[in-house]
Amino acid sequence: MSEQLAGQGRAVVVSGASSGLGLACARQLDQLGFRVFAGVRRPADADALRAAASPRLHPIMLDVTSEESIAQALALVTAEVGDRGVWGLINNAGICVSAPLECVAPEQLRQQLETNLIGHHAMIRAFLPLTRTARGRIVNVSSGLGRVASPYLGAYAASQFAKEGYSDSLRRELRPFGVHVVVVQPGAIKTPIWGKVSEVGNQTLEGAPAAVANLYRESFLRFLAGNDRRAQASATRPESFAAAVADALTARSPKSRYRVGRDSRLTSVVYRLLPDKVLDTVFTSVVGTAR
Ligand SMILES: NC(=O)c1ccc[n+]([C@@H]2O[C@H](COP(=O)([O-])OP(=O)(O)OC[C@H]3O[C@@H](n4cnc5c(N)ncnc54)[C@H](OP(=O)(O)O)[C@@H]3O)[C@@H](O)[C@H]2O)c1
Repeated sequence: MSEQLAGQGRAVVVSGASSGLGLACARQLDQLGFRVFAGVRRPADADALRAAASPRLHPIMLDVTSEESIAQALALVTAEVGDRGVWGLINNAGICVSAPLECVAPEQLRQQLETNLIGHHAMIRAFLPLTRTARGRIVNVSSGLGRVASPYLGAYAASQFAKEGYSDSLRRELRPFGVHVVVVQPGAIKTPIWGKVSEVGNQTLEGAPAAVANLYRESFLRFLAGNDRRAQASATRPESFAAAVADALTARSPKSRYRVGRDSRLTSVVYRLLPDKVLDTVFTSVVGTAR
């Protein structure tokens, strides 16, 4: 199949296309002949995307936590696609708050859920009429951690577990309309998110009362360093994620879940086979034992 045929000029909207997985996805879908509306939050990111893509790719300003920004993006896309609708809505924008839950302020948890869950819901509500018109597809980017919750990633896991349940309901609700809902679960992939995770993690720890932070510091810093090492060493590339999204958008009958990377596939097996008691023991080796 030629690249042009794969996308056939069909419209797709990608949130969080300024970096990492969203950027790789926007570029690959552009190369495959989709008409990509790539969501970014800074004009410089729009310029960079434009410079590295075909004239089909259209950067749009999009903050998924702002109803106003979503409404503006929707108006722009609607004006461009007319009654052809939107074939693919890729909900990729995300942040990751990693810290011991005792250190996470409620406002931080709110921000985590606001971006990774409520923001995606707001996008889906806004773009669903266009997606239904095209009998298209909604791709929700979750994580290998959407099924197994590691310590120190509770806020993030809460958002991803919620997205998994949300997506299952949505898939069953939209089936009668011929709209497919797909979850993509990447494992660890080297992107800028890991630098941000360490930065936010350190800030969160230091923002907690010293007596609380001291309880976790040693084990949490070890955890952050281990995470970073795993991400740097990961053999999975952002392009593999983009290929899974492309598959979800072009397969005649897409799967409900695409796992990207060996660790993500392993997590899905672990989740099904290992009882909580065994997993708890495994994770004790991550957090250590309190003295
Ligand atoms: N990389 C991994 O190992 C991995 C593993 C599992 C799941 N994931 C998931 O994959 C997705 C992409 O992650 P990534 O690794 O590519 O991270 P990344 O490089 O940090 O990219 C995150 C993207 O989300 C955007 N974003 C954040 N908040 C936003 C908001 N309120 N509105 C619109 N856009 C917003 C960022 O835009 P700005 O540049 O403007 O901040 C950026 O474009 C996330 O949902 C993440 O949870 C990643």
